[in-house]
Amino acid sequence: MKEFPLDFCPNTEGIFAYLNYLVPATRKQILDILIEGLKRMEYRGYDSAGVAFDISEETNNKSAIKLVKKRGKVKELEAALENQNGLSYTKEYDIHCGIAHTRWATHGEPNEVNSHPQRSDENNEFVVVHNGIITNYKDIKAFLEKKGFVFESETDTEVIAKLAKHVFDSDNHEGSFREIIEIVVQQLEGAFALVIMSTHFPGECVATRRGSPLVIGMKSKAKLCTDHIPVFYSKADNRGYMAGLAPNRMFSESEYHTVGPEKEVEYFFASDASAIIGHTNQVIYLEDDDVAAVTKGCLTLHRIKRATLGEGGLNNDRKPNLQPSIRKVQTIQLELQQIMKGNYSTFMQKEIFEQPESVVNTMRGRVNFQENKVTLGGLKDYIAEIKRCRRLLFIACGTSFHSAVATRQLLEELTELPVMVELASDFLDRNTPVFRDDVCFFISQSGETADTLMALNYCKKRGALIVGITNTVGSTICRESHCGVHINAGPEIGVASTKAYTSQFISLVMFGLMMCDDRISMQERRKEIIQGLKKLPEQIKEVLAIDDEVKKLAEEMYKEKSLLVMGRGYNYATCLEGALKIKELTYMHSEGILAGELKHGPLALVDKAMPVLFIVTRDGVYSKCMNALQQVKARHGEPVIICNVDDTDTIAHANRHVTVPHTIDCLQGILTVIPMQLLSLHIATLKKCDVDCPRNLAKSVTVA
Ligand code: G6P
Repeated sequence: MKEFPLDFCPNTEGIFAYLNYLVPATRKQILDILIEGLKRMEYRGYDSAGVAFDISEETNNKSAIKLVKKRGKVKELEAALENQNGLSYTKEYDIHCGIAHTRWATHGEPNEVNSHPQRSDENNEFVVVHNGIITNYKDIKAFLEKKGFVFESETDTEVIAKLAKHVFDSDNHEGSFREIIEIVVQQLEGAFALVIMSTHFPGECVATRRGSPLVIGMKSKAKLCTDHIPVFYSKADNRGYMAGLAPNRMFSESEYHTVGPEKEVEYFFASDASAIIGHTNQVIYLEDDDVAAVTKGCLTLHRIKRATLGEGGLNNDRKPNLQPSIRKVQTIQLELQQIMKGNYSTFMQKEIFEQPESVVNTMRGRVNFQENKVTLGGLKDYIAEIKRCRRLLFIACGTSFHSAVATRQLLEELTELPVMVELASDFLDRNTPVFRDDVCFFISQSGETADTLMALNYCKKRGALIVGITNTVGSTICRESHCGVHINAGPEIGVASTKAYTSQFISLVMFGLMMCDDRISMQERRKEIIQGLKKLPEQIKEVLAIDDEVKKLAEEMYKEKSLLVMGRGYNYATCLEGALKIKELTYMHSEGILAGELKHGPLALVDKAMPVLFIVTRDGVYSKCMNALQQVKARHGEPVIICNVDDTDTIAHANRHVTVPHTIDCLQGILTVIPMQLLSLHIATLKKCDVDCPRNLAKSVTVA
């Protein structure tokens, strides 16, 4: 399988673990709790799932752990768990630990071996669930391979379980579980949240994080001893069994009772509070580098060292930012729905409002704003070949197609190559000629759209270079492409695509910039675009701030039967995408109309009663747009206008208008599409339509 290099970790995976101490539970009850925890995090998006649980009952009380993992949905994992031969589901456990995970593939395709929990060896001595990316896993892997470890998965996570076993074995099995994991995490670089269990420490577990969230819920009939958990500090260790990798640490042991000795208690570990809220509202949030361990029902928190001034910097009062040495037990007030959607009423609304961050994630590590350089890791080795091609083809469906329409003009300008933009279904219907020296881009949020995939296979057979632009790591389009770009917008749940569109748009702009970085004549233009990209997140926030104005427009419009959306040049794609949003979400007729075509037909539709929305921004076609606007007004049309903030001339023509900040011409479409996303959302809400799941539509259309 070929996967393009990943230079960013989407925070989508889910960790859930459950430890019951002196709270009897049957295996069935335990597995149900684990599965339920995973289901609560399903909304984040994932491609495989797995659990690990104790089976010492089935192995004559010899400590043993069973792993069950499945590609696909949690309900498939659930079905697999129900069909395990030789397992008793009624047996009660007074003390038990189980860990579970939903995985979104980063290293290695989604399959059972790559799913979590990952293990140290065939006996499952140490098993781990992990969110994030271990950036130095190759070094650790090489180190462990030299020690005789044989790796079974393509994941970065497997090194964690194997390193734990190495430390345990090297220490003559003397260290405590927490001490072992503290040594392990000091070798790890990157971002992680981890929960680990071990056959050597039954009924115990250790959890830690760095850069990836982890929350612990506590539930007990007994009162918690305190409303805060103290943090103990561990000391450095100089033992040499990790020689050749990095320095190590030794730890002081401190104990603290959460609910008093020998009292019943349950702990829930999760990457997302939504998975815990159904069980308890008493939680602590781990800080980076906290190591939490449960031993004999007692939760302790340790840190390797105290944060120093150098580490924490200064706070707003210019005082050193020292980590407090307690973690407060917090009471979560939020309802489950609120946690999943934040304060938003729908996923679509959440995703629209995430765009200031999602566009940053698309550019993260790729655009260097100081040096005006762009590097797409998944394309850099192919750029020379792409530059030599006959033409560039961009093939997609729906919103993804519109992202290609939006960037076509810029790509023609920056690459100086012929650019074809194609709807996948039509491209196939036409048996379009494709040649070995063509470069074909397949743009798809899901990476699974059947029409796009069929077009991909069609072009691949004809020898073209295949480039994937997707939001879903490990998707079929990713795997089938020769190279590509992950847009890194994070999971998109609303059926109507919003943040994926703006991230696809930016990914294509970045590709164009990479194609001309050695063209002296284009340096000024490149600089201008890159500096435009830099300002986008703040400008998107400004557009989102006009939400109330857009809502008022929606209140005036929602009873209409039709809406024509007009514009031209760089904004034509916004007209198509805006009209698509309106029809998908509100079931109202809507058409995106190229203003240059008005007099060739659509003008006949215009009269006083026909709702028209006109997009005019200050760019190369500004005066042509003004001209078209006059034509609409001359037919008694009363267009609502989307224009730039300072454009008083255009505003003078409008009965109603909303404004967006001015950016460079080729990026303006990112800002003009947002009022259209908001408008369709508000109209749909007013019409009581299902915003996240419009009728007759699916998020991922896997049938042709
Ligand atoms: C479906 C969705 C659209 C999406 C299109 C293409 O029709 O409802 O929102 O734009 O598929 O999906 P893709 O995952 O390939 O981008």
